[in-house]
Amino acid sequence: MSFTVAIDGPAAAGKGTISRAVAAHFGMQHLDTGLLYRAVGARVDAGEDAVTAARTLTPNDLARSDLRTPAAAAAASRIATRPEVREALVEFQRSFARLPQGAVLDGRDICTVICPDAEVKLYVTASPEIRAERRYAELVEKGLDVTRQSVLEDVLARDARDMGRADAPLVAAPDATVLDTSSMSIAQAVAAAIDAVTRVKTPGA
Ligand code: C5P
Repeated sequence: MSFTVAIDGPAAAGKGTISRAVAAHFGMQHLDTGLLYRAVGARVDAGEDAVTAARTLTPNDLARSDLRTPAAAAAASRIATRPEVREALVEFQRSFARLPQGAVLDGRDICTVICPDAEVKLYVTASPEIRAERRYAELVEKGLDVTRQSVLEDVLARDARDMGRADAPLVAAPDATVLDTSSMSIAQAVAAAIDAVTRVKTPGA
């Protein structure tokens, strides 16, 4: 029987780290749905039509090494405003969510649109300044030439686009558990998420 953990939240809130840790803890599969949008954005930047790219994504597209750059993030959030692109990616995400060993999906619209019936829904967030600081440290560690100011501006621009778009805007589902990680360590945030899943998976544990 499938069991789905749906995790939404803004850029650099810690969704990826939390999702990977939850999946590893419970032996579930994990899908970072942002990668789908980043891969489509990368193909559009190379001259392809966005809807064609979304309909023909391959595992190789998702394995590209250039999907974690600020440019790829910006391209993703631009093509993610297009309803036909989003529609083309729905079935893949829903099939993944039904994998028999259970699945953790993280993104922007997982609780609200892709898996509204998920057994567990989390909204992971943190203040824009803290998210920008975390993303800055991550990008500097990868050797990318960025400034704190440019990373904060990117985070704010992406928030505005993701929260302001007409189709599937980023919003906490009314029944999602909100996890504000602003003043949490990674270990605390992961423990809180695992606890939320455990309460549903093994009530009374
Ligand atoms: O999560 P990540 O930062 O990799 O996502 C990149 C962009 O892809 C987001 O800013 C958002 O515009 C888009 N996205 C989305 N819906 C998702 C996941 C990502 O619109 N489920």
